[in-house]
Amino acid sequence: MAKMEVKTSLLDNMIGVGDMVLLEPLNEETFINNLKKRFDHNEIYTYIGSVVISVNPYRSLPIYSPEKVEDYRNRNFYELSPHIFALSDEAYRSLRDQDKDQCILITGESGAGKTEASKLVMSYVAAVCGKGAEVNQVKEQLLQSNPVLEAFGNAKTVRNDNSSRFGKYMDIEFDFKGDPLGGVISNYLLEKSRVVKQPRGERNFHVFYQLLSGASEELLNKLTLERDFSRYNYLSLDSAKVNGVDDAANFRTVRNAMQIVGFMDHEAESVLEVVAAVLKLGNIEFKPESRVNGLDESKIKDKNELKEICELTGIDQSVLERAFSFRTVEAKQEKVSTTLNVAQAYYARDALAKNLYSRLFSWLVNRINESIKAQTKVRKKVMGVLDIYGFEIFEDNSFEQFIINYCNEKLQQIFIELTLKEEQEEYIREGIEWTHIDYFNNAIICDLIENNTNGILAMLDEECLRPGTVTDETFLEKLNQVCATHQHFESRMSKSSRFLNDTSLPHSCFRIQHYAGKVLYQVEGFVDKNNDLLYRDLSQAMWKAGHTLIKSLFPEGNPAKINLKRPPTAGSQFKASVATLMKNLQTKNPNYIRCIKPNDKKAAHIFTEALVCHQIRYLGLLENVRVRRAGYAFRQAYEPCLERYKMLCKQTWPHWKGPARAGVEVLFNELEIPVEEYSFGRSKIFIRNPRTLFKLEDLRKQRLEDLATLIQKIYRGWKCRTHFLLMRKSQIVVAAWYRRYAQQKRYQQIKSSALVIQSYIRGWKARKILRELKHQKRCEEAATTIAAYWRGTQARRELKRLKEEARRKHAVAVIWAYWLGLKVRREYRKFFRANAGKKIYEFTLQRIVQKYFLEMKNKMPSLSPVDKNWPPRPYLFLDSTHKELKRIFHLWRCKKYRDQFTDQQKLIYEEKLEASELFKDKKALYPSSVGQPFQGAYLEINKNPKYKKLKDAIEEKIIIAEVVNKINRANGKSTSRIFLLTNNNLLLADQKSGQIKSEVPLVDVTKVSMSSQNDGFFAVHLKEGSEAASKGDFLFSSDHLIEMATKLYRTTLSQTKQKLNIEISDEFLVQFRQDKVCVKFIQGNQKNGSVPTCKRKNNRLLEVAVP
Ligand SMILES: Nc1ncnc2c1ncn2[C@@H]1O[C@H](COP(=O)(O)OP(=O)(O)OP(=O)(O)O)[C@@H](O)[C@H]1O
Ligand SMILES: [Mg+2]
Repeated sequence: MAKMEVKTSLLDNMIGVGDMVLLEPLNEETFINNLKKRFDHNEIYTYIGSVVISVNPYRSLPIYSPEKVEDYRNRNFYELSPHIFALSDEAYRSLRDQDKDQCILITGESGAGKTEASKLVMSYVAAVCGKGAEVNQVKEQLLQSNPVLEAFGNAKTVRNDNSSRFGKYMDIEFDFKGDPLGGVISNYLLEKSRVVKQPRGERNFHVFYQLLSGASEELLNKLTLERDFSRYNYLSLDSAKVNGVDDAANFRTVRNAMQIVGFMDHEAESVLEVVAAVLKLGNIEFKPESRVNGLDESKIKDKNELKEICELTGIDQSVLERAFSFRTVEAKQEKVSTTLNVAQAYYARDALAKNLYSRLFSWLVNRINESIKAQTKVRKKVMGVLDIYGFEIFEDNSFEQFIINYCNEKLQQIFIELTLKEEQEEYIREGIEWTHIDYFNNAIICDLIENNTNGILAMLDEECLRPGTVTDETFLEKLNQVCATHQHFESRMSKSSRFLNDTSLPHSCFRIQHYAGKVLYQVEGFVDKNNDLLYRDLSQAMWKAGHTLIKSLFPEGNPAKINLKRPPTAGSQFKASVATLMKNLQTKNPNYIRCIKPNDKKAAHIFTEALVCHQIRYLGLLENVRVRRAGYAFRQAYEPCLERYKMLCKQTWPHWKGPARAGVEVLFNELEIPVEEYSFGRSKIFIRNPRTLFKLEDLRKQRLEDLATLIQKIYRGWKCRTHFLLMRKSQIVVAAWYRRYAQQKRYQQIKSSALVIQSYIRGWKARKILRELKHQKRCEEAATTIAAYWRGTQARRELKRLKEEARRKHAVAVIWAYWLGLKVRREYRKFFRANAGKKIYEFTLQRIVQKYFLEMKNKMPSLSPVDKNWPPRPYLFLDSTHKELKRIFHLWRCKKYRDQFTDQQKLIYEEKLEASELFKDKKALYPSSVGQPFQGAYLEINKNPKYKKLKDAIEEKIIIAEVVNKINRANGKSTSRIFLLTNNNLLLADQKSGQIKSEVPLVDVTKVSMSSQNDGFFAVHLKEGSEAASKGDFLFSSDHLIEMATKLYRTTLSQTKQKLNIEISDEFLVQFRQDKVCVKFIQGNQKNGSVPTCKRKNNRLLEVAVP
C-alpha cells in the first residue's frame, strides 16, 4: 500500500508558539516566557518568520539523527516544528533549485552555540547533497577543516570551554547539481593577546595543551619540549585541564584531520615547530644590566632556551639575541640603534610571540583554502556560513570589544536592510499595498565608528600616525572634540558634556549607545593595539630563519624589500575586511540563526531570564518580530491554507473544485472574518493579526473533533454492515456447500444400487448362454470323436496293406541284387586280387610324403647359419630324409650368407679361417681373438706426420703396422717398437722417431714360436747366417699375436710359397747372438697383475711368468 502523505504544519502540536510572529500580545515578557516554555519542553528552536532562534541546551538532544535529517529533507519550512535543519534545507534547496546564492549568518554571544550551529548546518548540507567518491572527499575535507581551525583558534574561556577566538566565514561552493566542489575560508581578528596572557580561569589556545599532552616522547624530544605545562610561562596554570576534554585524543584527531585536509607530513611538522617556538619564547627572561651612560640595558637571563629556539627555527642565535636588546629605527638613509630596557625587551618578546602565532594561523587558513579550493572553473553556487563573535558587553571593554561590536552593528544593518527589503519585495510581488514600518535604523552608529573623516576608527588611525607623543589619553581628547555632539557617543571629558555628572562614566572611558545597548570602552591600549607594532629587528631576524615556514611568515623582514611606510593599522585592516564581508553578504540571500545562551553556568535545564532578556535586547529580536509583523503577521500560500481550513465551510468540504484562492475567499466570507484582518496577495493570503489565525486554528480544532466523531460514526456503521454482509455471504456459501454434499451422497447410493441389480441380471443371462454353449460344444465333440475313430480304422487298414506290398517289393529287389552280385563276382574275382593292394599302398605313401613336405614348408627355421633349431621328425621311416633335408637347408643358408660378402670381407674370413686352423685348440689366447676384427694397420702411418719419413722409406703395401714390445735379449726388459709387415719384409722402427732399426726379408724368417698359454709372447726365428740374424732371433710381445702370426704365415706363404713353421710349446729355444737361450713359460703370480712378466734368469734361461 502506498504510504499516505500526511500534511503537517508548524501549527500542529505547538508548544507556546513556534513562530514569535504569532505571539499575542508581543512584549519582552511574553517573548521570554514563550522561549522558556519551549526550552523547558526541549524545543530549543523558535522562528521569527524565517529567522531561527536557537537556545543552547548544553546537553545533547536526540534531534540531529539521520532520521531527523530525512524528516526535514525536502519539506516546507513551516511544515514541521522549528529546527536548524529546516533553515538549512530551505537555504540548500533555494540554492540548488532557484540558483540563489545563500549566506547563513550565525550570531550570538560567546557560548551561545554559534560554532555548533554552523557545524550542524554543514553536516546537514553534507548529508542531503549528492554522494560519490569525489564528492565525499570534498565533504570530508570541508568538515575536517573545523577540528584544525578549532585547535589553533579556539580556547577555553570562562564563558565557553571551546570558545572561537576568531571570526570565521566559509563559502561552500556547489556545482549546478548541488554537489559540493570546495570552499573558501576567511578569518577575522584572531585574539592573539591570548598567546601571551590569559585571564583568570581561562586557557591559551587548545593546540598548546594538545601538543604537550598528545605528542609522542620522540616528537617532544625533537621539539625540545617537556610534557609538564607548568614549565611554560605562556600557559596559565589555574585551568590547564578542562573537564570532559581529552587533549591527547584531540591532538590525534587534529593530526588526522590535517592529513585528510591535505597537509603534508613536513608541513604539519613545521607548524608544530612554530607552535613549540612560540611556547618556548615565553620562557625567555630578561634581567637589567647597568651601562656606562647610567641607563639600564636588558640581558637574557638564561641563554639555553634561546639556543633551543634558534636550533628549532634555524635562526642565528646572535641575531635573535641582538633583536631582543636593540631597536633600530630607520628614517630615510639613517639608522639609529637604541638599547631596549627590560620592559621593552618583554614587550618585544610578547609581540614576537603574538605575531608569530597569528601569522601562523593566517597561514593555516590559507593552506586549508588551497586544499579545499574548488578544482573546476565552472560557475559555482555559493553558500556562506558566518560564525562570528556576537555582541560583547563586559565590565572592561577594550579595543577588541569595540571592533567586535562594530562588526555586529554592521551585521545588524544588513539584517535590517535585507529583511525589510525582502518584506517589501514580497508585498510588491504579491501586489499588497506597502505601509511604512517604523523601526530603528542603526546606520547612524555605523557611521559614528567607520566614517572616513570623523569616525572613531579614522580618529584612532590619525592619532597613531601623528608625530609627537601619542597616548590613549590624547586619543580620547580627540574623540571628545570630534564626536561629542553625536547622539550615540557619550563621554565625560567633553566640555559641553551632558554627562559631566554621570559617575557611571569614568574619565578614561567613552560610551557608545549601540543598537543593542550601551557599552563603556576603556581607552587604555587602543593606540597600542591599533598600531600592532613588531620591531623591525625582530621581523628581520625571523626572515633570516632557516625554517622556511617562519621565513615565509615575515616577508617584510627581507632587507631588499624594506618599506618605510607604516603597515596598515589593525583597525583599518578590520574595517576593510568587514566591508568586503558586507559586500559579499549583500549579494546573497541571507538566512539568520540567532543563538542564545540560557545560563552562565554551561548547565542544562537552567534558564536565567535576566541573561536571556539581555541577549534578546542586544540581538534586537523584538525589533526583528516587529519588522516582520509590521504589515501582516502571517502569510500562507492559498493551497496549503485551503487544505488546512477547508473543513470549516460546507462549500469547500470535502473537495473544492475551483482555484484555491476562490476557495479561501469563500471560506473567509463564510467564517465572517473582518475584511481588514486579511489581504489577498497573488499567491498568498496575508493575515494581519495572529488573533485571526488562532481563531481559525481553534475553529479547525473544534471542527476536527466533530469530523473525527463523524468519521468514527460512519466507520462503525460501515464496519457493522461489512460484518453483516460478510456473515450473510458466508452463510450462503456454507448452505450451498452442504446441499451439494448431501446430493452427491444420495446420487452415489442410487448409483451403487443400480450397479448391483445390473450385475445380477447380467450374471443370470450369461450363465444361461453358457449352459447352451456347453451343450452344443459337447455334441460337436462327440461327432468328431466318432468320425476320428472311423477314419483311424480305415487308415490303419490301408497302412497294413501298403506295408505288406512294400515288404514283398523289397524282398524281390534283394533277391535280385544278390543274384546279380553273385554273377559279377564270379566274373571279376581274378582281376582285383592282382593290382588293387599295391595301388592303395602307393597312394597312401604318396599322400603321407606330400603332407610331410607341406608341413615342413611352414616349419622352416630362420636363415641364420648359427640357428640350431630344426623341427622334429614326424615318421620314423622319414628319418634319413629329415637329416638330409636339414643338412641341405643349412648349406643353402650358409651359401646365402656367404653370397652377401664383399671381397674384403671374404679376405677377412679367410684370414680368420686360417687363424682357426693354425691356433684353434692349440693356443689358449685364440678364443679371445675370434671376436676381434683383424685390422692390420693399427698404427696409421700415412696420417701421422711424425712418421712421414718412415712412410716415404717404404714403398710396398703395409700389411701390419702395430706397436709391439721388443724384449731385450740381455735382460728381458721390453722396449716399444713399430712392427711393420710388408709383402716382402718385416721391419722394426723406433716408436718415437719412426727411424727403421732392423729390416728382415721374409725369406730369412724360418719359424715363429709361442707358448700354448694366454700370453702375447712370440719369437721370430731367423735363418742362420743371414744378414738379419747377426744379433739373433727376435722376442716380442703383442696384444694381437694371433692376427700377426696369421698374417705373417699367409704373407710368407704367398711370397715364398713355403709354409712358415709355427711352433706352439711352453719351452722353446731362441738364438741370441752366439747363445742359445731357452724361453720357458711358467705359471706366474697373480699379484704382479694380469700382465705377463719376462725375466732373464741366466745365460741359458729366460722366464716368462704368465698369470
Ligand atoms: N545544539 C546544541 N546541542 C548541544 N550542545 C550545544 C549545542 N550548541 C551548543 N552546545 C554546547 O555549548 C557549547 C558552546 O557552543 P559553541 O562553541 O558553539 O559556542 P559559540 O557561540 O561558538 O561560542 P564562542 O563565541 O565562544 O565561540 C558547546 O561546546 C556545546 O557543549
Ligand atoms: Mg564558536
